[in-house]
Amino acid sequence: MRLIFLGPPGSGKGTQSQNICKDYGIKQISTGDILRKNVKDQTELGKIAAEYMNKGELVPDKIMIDIIASELKKPDYLKGFLLDGFPRTIPQAEALDGMMSKMGLKLNCVLVLEVPHEEIIQRISLRRVDKKTGKIYHLLFNPPLPEDNVELYQREDDKEETIRRRLMVYESQTKPLIKYYSSMGLAFKINGVGDFKEVYERIVKVLDSRLEV
Ligand code: AP5
Repeated sequence: MRLIFLGPPGSGKGTQSQNICKDYGIKQISTGDILRKNVKDQTELGKIAAEYMNKGELVPDKIMIDIIASELKKPDYLKGFLLDGFPRTIPQAEALDGMMSKMGLKLNCVLVLEVPHEEIIQRISLRRVDKKTGKIYHLLFNPPLPEDNVELYQREDDKEETIRRRLMVYESQTKPLIKYYSSMGLAFKINGVGDFKEVYERIVKVLDSRLEV
């Protein structure tokens, strides 16, 4: 199974990806996680990326396309993959089409998670991530259990004004991808409002219908 997860920042892509990958035996490729690791390790890429990420802007296409091109060559993804956070622009989508057709691979579907902006602000402002495992929590809706033994931090780009900028960038640069993939019959909209399990059940319904394509 090869899929793309689209949706505004904070819509729940990372949260739902963890279950999808476990249940469908595929690996997640999160460009946000790859970039944050580089920022933490202070690599050259990380230093460049941080300038864009902290302002809520997109990292340039060329950088992102090179990351995905080298990632897709890894044997980890032979059984499939879930792309979380890529593509985010039309040029990225076109580059991905080119890479996949060269590799003889097809996409099963593109999930589009839909959540209203005001709910997103509420979700992101109380999002916390565990330093050790990268697991995503919410202080009200999904708090860690005492036995989780977490070390929580708040992402640098999770301040309200940066979130608003990220939402604007999503509307102008990423949303056009819904039309792009709809024209190929690959985009499936999922209502992302509701509890975690309810949203996951909606996702599974779509994925199960797209297993054999
Ligand atoms: P990235 O890390 O990809 O961030 P994003 O797409 O903005 O998405 P988020 O990780 O913020 O949210 P999510 O949808 O995963 O939600 P989550 O599950 O955490 O990118 C970060 C930055 O990197 C970008 O801004 C850009 O600068 C750069 N970048 C990355 N890829 C790039 C690319 N391809 N091109 C250019 N630049 C790129 O959930 C959010 C919160 O809500 C959590 O607390 C969770 O517990 C809670 N929650 C989830 N589901 C529910 C629910 N059903 N009910 C209640 N709460 C819920």
